[in-house]
Amino acid sequence: MFRVLTVFLLISVVYAKHEIYEGASVYEFEVENETQSKIVYYMLQDQLGLDIWSHPGPSRSGMVLVPKNSKEEFAYKLKLAGIKFRATVDNIKEQLDIEERLLATASLRISSDSSSKAALTLDRVYRWEEIEEYMVHLARNYPDKVTLVNGGTSFEGRPINYLRISTTNFQDPSKPVVFVQSLLHSREWIGQAATLYAIEKLVVNNTDSDLINDIDWIILPTANPDGYIFSHNSDRFWRKNRKTGLFIADLCVGVDLNRNYDYAWGTESSDAVCEENFHGPGPFSEPETAVTKNILDEHKDRIEMFLDIHSFGSYVLYPYGTGELPPNALDLNLVGVLIGDAIDAVKLSANKNYTVGNSGLLLYPSSGGSDDYARKVGIPYSYCLELPAFRGSSSITGFLVDPEFIAQAGYETWEGIKAGARYVLDSYKMRR
Ligand SMILES: *[C@@H]1O[C@H](CO)[C@@H](O)[C@H](O)[C@H]1NC(C)=O
Ligand SMILES: *[C@@H]1O[C@H](CO)[C@@H](O)[C@H](O)[C@H]1NC(C)=O
Ligand SMILES: *[C@@H]1O[C@H](CO)[C@@H](O)[C@H](O)[C@H]1NC(C)=O
Ligand SMILES: [Zn+2]
Repeated sequence: MFRVLTVFLLISVVYAKHEIYEGASVYEFEVENETQSKIVYYMLQDQLGLDIWSHPGPSRSGMVLVPKNSKEEFAYKLKLAGIKFRATVDNIKEQLDIEERLLATASLRISSDSSSKAALTLDRVYRWEEIEEYMVHLARNYPDKVTLVNGGTSFEGRPINYLRISTTNFQDPSKPVVFVQSLLHSREWIGQAATLYAIEKLVVNNTDSDLINDIDWIILPTANPDGYIFSHNSDRFWRKNRKTGLFIADLCVGVDLNRNYDYAWGTESSDAVCEENFHGPGPFSEPETAVTKNILDEHKDRIEMFLDIHSFGSYVLYPYGTGELPPNALDLNLVGVLIGDAIDAVKLSANKNYTVGNSGLLLYPSSGGSDDYARKVGIPYSYCLELPAFRGSSSITGFLVDPEFIAQAGYETWEGIKAGARYVLDSYKMRR
């Protein structure tokens, strides 16, 4: 009874924050050629300032979030340009309420089970504080394998911590390092499942001894803590960090961290603070991107693979975002296919297969991405993984997480990470 009341109170409080999305719709739209694509981007991004959730291509539609008061202009402009579109979600607020209810119920179920302290059960989305506590707990309980490292401090002053997982305390240069990070884009919550599952399978329940004995791991679960917390407490679709002081009276805040790394910085991103892909005042202007940079720089001779986990779309993407190909593009593609195939082999049948390709050519040009910087400093296998948008019985999809999918997302992505890690284990040995 008490628990029912708690759920009720929890839900009535949180529903208020979803009001900003009352009446907002998600539309799918099609483009037939490059010209239409340019037109639609100009209209949606530059003219209407809309948030494009997924990018259209020759055989796939794009997705865009349209607030209530922009819907009329949106429809008018797209009709005029002859671009086909249809609403897939009429009122996103209803879906936000559903997600909140599902996740709140899942989290209450777990927290009432006191035996679940050691390993986090993968059927909920964890708050930043819970992840931090978990990492401290792991470092304390597995001192021979796990070291908690503070990589820096976020704009709002939170510690950005990551785990070093190693049976040789990171001292053995004959081992390659695999570096995985998630939640650089704060709203892409499903990515958390991938890093947590990796930690679980390396530390808590290791059934593949080669992966822990022969490889050192760096795992950074929350690359953008301020944005992540904001996406829970205030705006579910918050993508950037929470940098202020960039715009008059802070009417717009935040830097797109995945446009802030130093590769072709500022060339394929926005210099407007209010845009979702605002690249920030300069390369590595943000403390959050500096954390990844420092890790990559410190271990660049040993990091053989870097994986930045995002969502959504089921893609394995490799550098460079500008469409330019690095010298090892064929190898990048080959290992990308290994990763994608390993996931496809165990994915849910309702989800589509992964697509592998250069991000600039396959999706759209971008600059300042984390995977670009990693490749630039010499990490051979550098990828951005876009996890699937899952639509189960609850019907929520896109960035929204159905608890039904969390364990599966962790499991299937780990199959991909394993396939990549085993390949780079050999490639590192050969390179040396
Ligand atoms: C692009 O597609 C539109 C709509 O079918 C068409 O009107 C236009 O001529 C096409 N442009 C090019 C360059 O193919
Ligand atoms: C440990 O991992 C294996 C293989 O992934 C799995 O089958 C098993 O259920 C896990 N054990 C626990 C206690 O979670
Ligand atoms: C999806 O991937 C699986 C495994 O790689 C393959 O067997 C299947 O044919 C693929 N399906 C499609 C529609 O491409
Ligand atoms: Zn992302």
